[in-house]
Amino acid sequence: MTHALFDPITLRGLEIRNRVWIPPMCQYMVEAQDGVPTPWHLVHLGGLARGGAGAVVVEATGVVPEGRISPQDLGLWNDEQRDAFRPITDFIHSQGAVAGIQLAHAGRKASTSREWGPTAGGGNVAPEQGGWQPVGPSPVAFPGLHVPTELTVEGIADVVRAFAVAARRAVDAGFDLLELHGAHGYLLHEFLSPLSNERTDQYGGSLENRARALLETVDAVRAEVGEDVPLVVRLSATDWVEGGWDLPETEQLSAWLGEHDVDLVSVSTGGNVQNAPIPVGPGYQLPFATAIRQATGVPVAAVGMIDDPFQAEQIVALGQADVVLVGRGALRDPNFPIRAAQALRVDLPYKPAPYERAYR
Ligand code: FNR
Repeated sequence: MTHALFDPITLRGLEIRNRVWIPPMCQYMVEAQDGVPTPWHLVHLGGLARGGAGAVVVEATGVVPEGRISPQDLGLWNDEQRDAFRPITDFIHSQGAVAGIQLAHAGRKASTSREWGPTAGGGNVAPEQGGWQPVGPSPVAFPGLHVPTELTVEGIADVVRAFAVAARRAVDAGFDLLELHGAHGYLLHEFLSPLSNERTDQYGGSLENRARALLETVDAVRAEVGEDVPLVVRLSATDWVEGGWDLPETEQLSAWLGEHDVDLVSVSTGGNVQNAPIPVGPGYQLPFATAIRQATGVPVAAVGMIDDPFQAEQIVALGQADVVLVGRGALRDPNFPIRAAQALRVDLPYKPAPYERAYR
């Protein structure tokens, strides 16, 4: 059966009104450095929901303080943070969108600076500047960043538990959909890739071992939140270099994720290798999503320079992906989904507020 971009999609019991979603995008706007969302996040995320997206997924949110990319990231390791997310999920729901959140641990790429301001540039933030010592699978640094402390087996168990506890808080804060960040060179991807994982215990070596931390996290989150909550895992389908994490391993892992009750794989690439040769262009990551969907039957989301309505419609209609994520295109125009519906001449059964005001 074929679908269209503005057809609803149901994951577990959750019906999502269309297949144009907003992917997680770090904003580095927690000035107090306490992980607590502010009115700025309400306006930013609320505007995206108002623009007609099916789901709005909150940026990479640290499950522990040392799991943040920068000191200005969101966090979800305490009740104050949980409670501050509630007005955001309420507003997203009031606009008819699903509220998602990406739970994350930045691993060896933690404690770096946001890309503007006095400490601009994405480099290390030292402990005396409000940073911290990052952890990772192995004491192998991403070029130019901190050498991470190798996690012990107990340390890995603590991280897995932290994801589950954060997942509970996310559901209690009103989130309908949870995403685990297994991409872009952050902790769970660092375990997957032989370029960042040199362990010789049960978490390193074979694909089964490198996938163990992620699969344990998936199982712990599922056990904590129960059967009703849709679970997305974001993966980088390739490190884009010889000897790195690659598509065949991603396909095998995605099949396992399906067996572990993951409902959708969000297919990105890269992030674990500096200056990897990436052929960036419209839809450049789409073939990976399509390959994973075909190899495993697991639903996929495609992302990466998809910001033309007809391109997005075609991806869904041809069965190349089940969902299209529009990132920067939606930052430029938060009403992208409404505009796409207009361009595609879709008569939406719901009328987002800007549509009512602007197009009647
Ligand atoms: C991102 N991206 C990203 N990805 C992710 O998994 N978690 C995150 O928190 C972020 N943060 C982030 C911030 C900003 C400002 C941008 C532009 C991107 C990647 C993002 O979700 C998406 O995959 C890419 O932007 C590619 O899609 P577009 O922008 O070409 O549609």
